[in-house]
Amino acid sequence: MSEKFIPLVDHRQRERSLALPGMLETPDGKLLDTRARPLRDLRISVTDRCNFRCVYCMPKSVFDKDYHFLPHNSLLSFEEITRIANIFVAHGVTKIRLTGGEPLLRKNIEKLVGMLSRIKTADGDDLDLTLTTNASLLARKAQSLKDAGLTRVTVSLDSLDDATFRKMNDVDFPVDDVLDGIAAAQQAGLGPVKINMVVKAGLNDQEIVPMARYFKETPHVLRFIEYMDVGASNGWKMDEVIPSADIIRRLNAAGMGLQRVEANYTGETAERWRYADGGEIGVISSVTQSFCQDCTRARLSTEGKLYTCLFATGGHDLRSLLRGPDASYSDQAISTVVAQIWRARSDRYSELRSAHTAAGEQTERLKKVEMSYIGG
Ligand code: GTP
Ligand code: 5AD
Ligand code: SF4
Ligand code: SF4
Repeated sequence: MSEKFIPLVDHRQRERSLALPGMLETPDGKLLDTRARPLRDLRISVTDRCNFRCVYCMPKSVFDKDYHFLPHNSLLSFEEITRIANIFVAHGVTKIRLTGGEPLLRKNIEKLVGMLSRIKTADGDDLDLTLTTNASLLARKAQSLKDAGLTRVTVSLDSLDDATFRKMNDVDFPVDDVLDGIAAAQQAGLGPVKINMVVKAGLNDQEIVPMARYFKETPHVLRFIEYMDVGASNGWKMDEVIPSADIIRRLNAAGMGLQRVEANYTGETAERWRYADGGEIGVISSVTQSFCQDCTRARLSTEGKLYTCLFATGGHDLRSLLRGPDASYSDQAISTVVAQIWRARSDRYSELRSAHTAAGEQTERLKKVEMSYIGG
């Protein structure tokens, strides 16, 4: 019997080139895409390198010594990143997240934080300026990041059990150093720290209850993330996903008495749950309950490509407008290009994948960008 493959990605996106707009526009902060979704978040990847090799993100078999990471001259400079960030903020972005790879590996990252923290939103407020890190360098850098203007941090941590954690990061990194980084961030005023735990069946699902018990006694907010089919390297299989509904069931079976809580804002990735006696957790269900409907996120890769979906196969090369033969683009021209890209956006990968998985169909395996390149 032949299998049915459903293409989930718009192939045209890969060929789309950026043309100088005929008419320049002034941003009014009210951009909407084809599904009436505003542009609110910009995730900026500052390096495609990482000192961890998490099995679900940068498996060693692919990201080995022969892997071609981006050469230094292709990275956006801090000035280029700040220029683009200003343009996005004028279009309505209020939250900027620095990601990687591991963002704290980028040299002088505090300087970039300082430059971005001076940008004001269209309403004149401070940005929500945050960063996702594996915390390996956080104990050393938390205070300087805070001093530079970072608002808060999110830390990836998949297990409290040292052996399991070392197996998941695959570079033998000890869990205690991550816990020290989290404590330093809280102490420096970068809290409440969010803790992201990717749950992979058979690897760390036995850690669900211990992680909840541990973080319940802290000011940090633990979020359980469904293992996703992001990138092209992790060999994702649906039977390795633990649905969020199962996680909640397991926690309640352990006596946690969780109740649903309203979202903080429209389009929040995490569904919030509160313990009967205080404290909360989140579940991020991008596989079993997609949240594309309210997705307000744009992603800027380390080399300056704009991606309008985490699962995209191609991006729009904004760097070429800042450097090289097209470098004559004014801020207003770049701003108009960004507006045109966002208005044309129709991405809803997770939603389509859920529909096809539910129908028992297999999705086409196109080469999607890696999470370590585009950021989480
Ligand atoms: P808060 O502002 O702290 O609420 O952050 P957030 O939940 O928006 O961001 P975070 O980077 O912590 O996201 C947590 C995880 O959710 C990521 O590591 C991804 O696994 C997943 N995620 C984030 N954004 C998207 C998205 O746009 N699509 C999908 N499918 N998953 C996403
Ligand atoms: N599935 C879900 N989340 C992932 N991340 C990386 N790879 C995956 C995946 N396959 C997320 C982790 C980490 C962030 C940087 O990216 O949550 O915290
Ligand atoms: Fe590095 Fe984060 Fe990917 Fe792990 S999940 S390999 S820490 S970028
Ligand atoms: Fe947004 Fe794409 Fe994620 Fe859907 S799959 S929530 S459109 S980034």
